[in-house]
Amino acid sequence: MTSTARTADTTPITDDGGHAATINGYRRHLATSFVASIEPVVVGRAEGATVWDTDGTEYIDCFAGISVVNAGHRHPRVIAAVREQLDKVVHAATYIYHVPIVADLATRLAGIAPGKLEKTFFGNSGAEGIETAIRLAKAFTGRHEIITLTHSFHGRTAGTLSITGNKARKTRGGPYLPGIAFAPAPYVYRNPFGTDDPEIVAERCAEMVEWAVAYQSSGDVAAFIAEPVMGEGGILVPPASYFPRVKEVLDRHGILFIADEVQSGFGRTGKLFAVEHFGVEPDIMVLAKGIADGFPLSATVARAEIADSLRPGEHLSTFGGNPISCAAAFANIDVMEDERLPEESARKGAHVMSRLGEMMERHDLIGDIRGLGLMIGLELVTDRASKTPATKQAIDIRRLCREAGVLIGVGGQAGNVVRLQPPLVIEDRALDRALDVLEDAIGRVAGK
Ligand SMILES: Cc1ncc(COP(=O)(O)O)c(C=O)c1O
Repeated sequence: MTSTARTADTTPITDDGGHAATINGYRRHLATSFVASIEPVVVGRAEGATVWDTDGTEYIDCFAGISVVNAGHRHPRVIAAVREQLDKVVHAATYIYHVPIVADLATRLAGIAPGKLEKTFFGNSGAEGIETAIRLAKAFTGRHEIITLTHSFHGRTAGTLSITGNKARKTRGGPYLPGIAFAPAPYVYRNPFGTDDPEIVAERCAEMVEWAVAYQSSGDVAAFIAEPVMGEGGILVPPASYFPRVKEVLDRHGILFIADEVQSGFGRTGKLFAVEHFGVEPDIMVLAKGIADGFPLSATVARAEIADSLRPGEHLSTFGGNPISCAAAFANIDVMEDERLPEESARKGAHVMSRLGEMMERHDLIGDIRGLGLMIGLELVTDRASKTPATKQAIDIRRLCREAGVLIGVGGQAGNVVRLQPPLVIEDRALDRALDVLEDAIGRVAGK
């Protein structure tokens, strides 16, 4: 037998609660070359909108684990439901042997999902949910092409990267799926139409969906996919008339509408689902992130005839519909309803937007503020006339906020959008404190 040299790191755990050893472990034995830097935060405990490092540092969480723990970290009712389910069954292969909580959750989703969406396929991640939506759209329509948007993000699998409109996420991963057409995102602050009039942007962008059908497709379009509020692309809130206009185009051509609510769902925008702001009904809706308050789960919810279009053997997911995650999701929906979290998100979001409006008057670095509920972005620019993205400044602001005890996100095509997406249960005082810290950081970076 040959012996294999061990490369394991044997650095002893220090008395900082394991902080340094954990960072060391990440550096040496986790694949992290795809993140720009390893953030020096080691989460030992988290509750509500507070996160504690193992070294004792306390943070106000304004990013919610990339917009996941909408009901707050470890909501007691979610944790209780999970504990109860742990004592019954952890895994049963949902699509082979059935578990009550899975049927209960699917029934519940049919009750809260918009319009005629009533049958669910459960997976484990947003990307898996989107893959399922594409599969369903193709199977139901018998067509194969997809129209998607620039600036979009739909996941990291080959299929979901194919419909993602951001070069930075796609480098070295191709070739991608054929049959994908891109229409411009309804991005009022930056668009190819030379206007910042939301109505004109909505009209032109909807026209471009029709152009995509006419000039980029072979007339075989199965579905149009969009995030009702775009997240990774920089918190892009479309003008009110955009989706109704697009829906007219889709209906004219018999094209399905897939709403990617992975990031915008579960109260994040001030309604349970962001698409509800726009008065249109999707044919398929994909949920993940906020669905189970931190437990991995995705749900692709479709009209019954669409959901039933797959034939035996064409689809499955071993872990999909995991009973623990489903129990968490069921309790999470109870919490959303009982604590009126979408309404809380709307109320708190309006307060943040008004404070950001005041900040914008004081700081030229802020080029644009956008948001619905607690899904909020500040687009930073080095000067307002040229709108040159202030990418480095966004990173510096994130660091300064972290050093002052506040965790925020950064996104956007150029990485120049500060993202505020805290748990919806964040206390008003904590939110105001986070905004004070943010303004201080903006002032310091701008003053450099
Ligand atoms: C809108 C949207 N769709 C899909 C995904 C992919 O989700 P996951 O990372 O769970 O696969 C994301 C993740 O950020 C997202 O924001």
